[in-house]
Formats: sequence, C-alpha cells, structure tokens
Amino acid sequence: MSLTADHLFDVRGLVTIVTGAASGLGLAIAEAMAANGAVVVLADRNETELKRVSRDVLPAAEIAAVDVADPDAIRRLTDDVVVRKGKLDVVFANAGISAGPGIVSPKGAIENIDLAAWNEVLATNQTGVFTTMQAAARHMKAQRSGRIVVTASVGGLRGAWATGYSYAASKAAVVNLVRQAALELAPFGIQVNAIAPGFFRTALGGGRLLDEAGTKPLEAMVPMKRIAMPREIAGVSLLLASPAASYITGSVFTVDGGITAA
Ligand SMILES: NC(=O)c1ccc[n+]([C@@H]2O[C@H](COP(=O)([O-])OP(=O)(O)OC[C@H]3O[C@@H](n4cnc5c(N)ncnc54)[C@H](O)[C@@H]3O)[C@@H](O)[C@H]2O)c1
Repeated sequence: MSLTADHLFDVRGLVTIVTGAASGLGLAIAEAMAANGAVVVLADRNETELKRVSRDVLPAAEIAAVDVADPDAIRRLTDDVVVRKGKLDVVFANAGISAGPGIVSPKGAIENIDLAAWNEVLATNQTGVFTTMQAAARHMKAQRSGRIVVTASVGGLRGAWATGYSYAASKAAVVNLVRQAALELAPFGIQVNAIAPGFFRTALGGGRLLDEAGTKPLEAMVPMKRIAMPREIAGVSLLLASPAASYITGSVFTVDGGITAA
C-alpha cells in the first residue's frame, strides 16, 4: 500500500451525502470532500441557503432539501442517490440544532425545560442522526462497504455550563449510537465514527458563536484560547472518509482546542 498523502487521503469519486450542509461545519465538510474529488450531495432543510451555496460556493455539488427529522425524507434521499449514482460511499450525519441557553442561564435550568423544545432537539440531533445512519446502512450493508461519520459534540462527552439539557442528552446518545453501529456494521465493511467538535464559529444557536465579543468568555475556557473556524473540521472529516482510516471504527475524534484534555 502506498503511503503517500495522495493515496492515503484519496476520496476521489466517493459518493458522499452531507446533512446540514448549507452552513457551518456541514458546508466545510462538503467543501473538503468536493475539493478532493468526491461526488457530493448537500442535504439540508434550508432550501434557500442550499441554493445560495450551490450558486456561490459549490456549483458542482447536488442539493437536496431534506429535513432529517423526517425519516421517510432521508430514506428517499439515500434511495435516490443510490439509484442515480449506483452506490453510497460516505454519509456525514451532521445536521444538528442547539438546545438554546445552557444550564448556566435561568432559562436553561432544569425546571424551565419545555418538553416540546426538548423533543424538537431530539428529533433532529438524535432520531435524525439515527434514521440517517439507518438509511445509509441499508445500502452500505448490501454493497458491503461504507463510512458513516456523525457530528457529535464535546457537549455529549461531559457536563458543561454552556450546554442545554436536550443538546447534552442528544449528543451523548449519538456517541453511543456510533459505537453500537460500529459493532453491528463492522462485519459488513462499514466503519462508523464520530467527530466531537468544541466551539466553532458557525450559525448554531441563533448566531451566538458568531459574536466575537460575546464569545470571549468561551474562548477563555479553551486551552488554545480561541474558537475554531469551520474549515478546521476539514482534516478529520477527510481522514474518516479516506483510506487513511482503514482500521478506525467506533471512535470519537475530539476537535476542541484541548477542552476535553482538562
Ligand atoms: N458550532 C459548534 O461550535 C459546534 C460544536 C459541537 C457540535 N456542533 C455540531 O455540528 C453540527 C453542525 O452545526 P453547525 O455548528 O455547523 O451549525 P449551523 O447552524 O451553521 O449548521 C447546521 C445546519 O444544519 C441544518 N439543519 C438543522 N436541522 C436540520 C434538519 N432537521 N434537517 C436538515 N438540516 C438541518 C441547518 O439548516 C444548518 O444549515 C451540528 O450537529 C452541531 O450540533 C457544532
């Protein structure tokens, strides 16, 4: 096996779906895959932003308006991609929403958690990730190969004041869903891993993370003393989709400037 970077990180021609691809980390993942020759389908519930990205950023990529909270929609998408492209190599189950204020805020205190809002977060962050994995695995099992990469969060690995209850619960759940699926799917040649980001400058949580002044306290909590840019997720995403990850499954990769080292 060649050990050149060209070979190790060769994702050329890999048919790849990225959910939550109209913005932030999903868009950065899609850009990294497309820049390296993958055939990328951008899936997101925000059709307006998808069209903008398709026009201004990734004209070669296909777009699909899909709400991952609708299991039929994500299943239809994977079926359609396999019918048209003949295979499905990589799925990034990345779409996610914030739970609103963290437990440090009175609104995020346990007695104030509204179950409708709780269920809305779980529908996307937990059930949406599971049904995306399920839809991908159906095809990948049949072809006996594939990679599934879930965007979890350091908020699912430990308690944190800035994190809301439903976000913490859903992100912890997907970490163990990844491990469960890695066990079941390994004999089928399917590898399943998670990326657990720390703080990234994206639109998550209504733009709170885009506010440079407002995020100074968050930066102070990070050993590297800064918030990451979305493109800093690209390297690990490419790794997990590529031949370089040939023996990696059931793993969780933190990309957090050292937060979880503390
Ligand atoms: N930004 C961070 O600091 C951070 C940290 C840890 C984990 N994450 C995770 O990264 C992932 C991407 O978030 P981001 O930071 O890029 O935020 P973002 O808001 O910039 O992007 C999220 C995208 O997902 C889409 N989306 C949301 N719900 C959807 C649904 N039900 N169906 C389809 N698309 C949906 C949105 O329309 C948006 O385009 C999420 O899972 C998030 O929890 C982000």
